[in-house]
This record gives sequence, structure tokens and C-alpha cells, in this order.
Amino acid sequence: MTTTLGTTDLKSALVGRDFLTLADYTPDEIGYLLDLAADLKEKRKNGDIVEPLKGKTLGMIFEKSSTRTRVSFEVGVYQLGGTGLFLSSKDIQIGRGEPIADTAKVLSGYLDGIMIRTFSQTDVESLATNASIPVINGLTDTYHPCQVLADMQTIMETKGRLEGIKVAYIGDGNNMAHSLMIGAAKMGMDISIAAPVGYQPEETITNKAKQFAKGTSVVVTEDPFEAVKDADVIYTDVWASMGQESEQKEREKAFEGFQVNQKLVSLAKPDFSFMHCLPAHRGEEVTAEIIDGKHSVVFQEAENRLHAQKALMVALMGK
Ligand code: CP
Ligand code: NVA
Repeated sequence: MTTTLGTTDLKSALVGRDFLTLADYTPDEIGYLLDLAADLKEKRKNGDIVEPLKGKTLGMIFEKSSTRTRVSFEVGVYQLGGTGLFLSSKDIQIGRGEPIADTAKVLSGYLDGIMIRTFSQTDVESLATNASIPVINGLTDTYHPCQVLADMQTIMETKGRLEGIKVAYIGDGNNMAHSLMIGAAKMGMDISIAAPVGYQPEETITNKAKQFAKGTSVVVTEDPFEAVKDADVIYTDVWASMGQESEQKEREKAFEGFQVNQKLVSLAKPDFSFMHCLPAHRGEEVTAEIIDGKHSVVFQEAENRLHAQKALMVALMGK
């Protein structure tokens, strides 16, 4: 990817940084991370050992469940020569009310980086403000930037470019929709979000994405057919996210007509890719025919969590 800053400048601009939202990163910095992710993936396929994080430890705080994020971070830091520590919030004092600021200061004395998955973006910001080591957002109710880094790597691999790609996101205007909007706008992709009224992305985040877009479109609509028209990528996510399980029934009603199925995808480009951050609910937000069909790249996308996050850890926690 072409960058205006030199690689050395970008490398030093990233050391020690937090990764709380893609909004804090320039297109050049995101491009640098994607290049590094592709390079690390290639090296892994070739069996090369790359251990820039030898002797370093990543603490991983989880207040919500996880398969991909937990395993890819833990395996990723190990492959880079370091160690990952799984810290369930139920088992550390944060779960009993120890202030985030105190936790941040204590962990900064032991660790070289912290990944956190929690509910409130403000808590992640507060952890980052009080920690002297990089803090990585592993998902909040507002954002899921690590997922979108892997998603962009997947789009690069499948479409050969990001610029000019149209992404249609169908479903809840949640953490995924927010991070995709920001990532798309920063990297020259067009994005259309189709969500029912009451479940559309936060207006402040939509406006932020619009400000980042340089001549590309950021559209929010209630019409999934309008959103998928001529799309290169169709993306969806669960209708009830973690923490919203009690709303499952009312959400199923609200999202009727927002399922990604054969009828809907027939309006996209003939070579469209189907993406989903997973876990998926077949028969709800997407039919089995689509997610298990020939356009689906969901497992390549899931694998890329490993490579993209290794790039992130090398860039932020390395020298
Ligand atoms: N996509 C994703 O973040 O998956 P997990 O919830 O399994 O980590
Ligand atoms: N929106 C989903 C994403 C899971 C990776 C959730 O927050 O549960």
C-alpha cells in the first residue's frame, strides 16, 4: 500500500500507542498495519519464526465471552515470542469493584500491553488513560476495531484493493457497524448500512465517518435492497449482541426483512464476498445457504484475526 510517510516514520509513530478505535489512526497507519499483517501471514505460511516480542507479556481482560479474540491474541503473542495472560474479570479484583485506574497502574508494572473486552468504551478509555503501556480494544458495545483490521486484510486478499470497494452492512447498527463505517471511510471504501429505525448506528459516529470520507459515501438507510445494490462485500452480524440476550425476541421482530439471503444478495455484484465477524446464527441474520456458500469468506476472515492482531502487537508493543 502506498504511504506518504516513510515506513520508519510510521513504525515509530505506532510504538507505545493505544488502539481504542480506528478513528485515532491515519489511513497511512492503517495501511502500514495491513502490510505488516500480510507479511506476518506470509512468514507463518513459510514456517519462518518471527519473535520480536520475546520476553513480553500481554494481559487479556475479558468481561464478555470470546472464541476468536481470546485464541488469536493468545496464540498470536506466543508466536511472536511472548506470553498471553487470560484475565477473566470474574477472577480479578476489577470484578469486585477495584477501580479501573488502579488496575491500569498495577498492570502497567507487570505487563507490556493490555487487551480488554468489555461493555463500555469509556471504561477502555479510562484504562488507557491510566496505563503506561498500550491498551487494545478487543470489543466494546461501541466498537470492534481489531475485527475490522482483519476484515480489511480479508478484503485486500479477496478483492485486491480497498479503494473503490462498496461494503453493504445489513443488520444492527452496533459495534461492528460503527467500526466498519470508520474503517471504510478512512480507507476509501463506500459503505451503506441498512438497519431498522431504532437500531441504526449512533449519529455522532455516522457523522464522524462522513468527516473521514474523502469523496466516498457513507449511507445509512432502512432499505437493505438499496444498501446491497452493486455491493462488492455484504456484511452482517448477530441481531442481539452480547449483553442484549433478553432482547432476542423483540429484535427478531424488528430485524424481519434484514436477513442476508439469496433474494437480497442477487442485487450485489456477481462476485460479491459475504463476511460476518462470527459467531453467526444461521436462519436469523443470514441463511446457511449464504454463509456456507461459495461467496462466503468468513473462515478466512476469522483466520486473519490472528495475522492482523500480530501486526498490531508488533507495532504497538515492539521496539
Ligand atoms: N468476532 C469475534 O470477535 O469473535 P469472538 O467473540 O469469538 O472473539
Ligand atoms: N456485535 C457482536 C459482535 C461479536 C463479535 C457482539 O457484540 O456480541
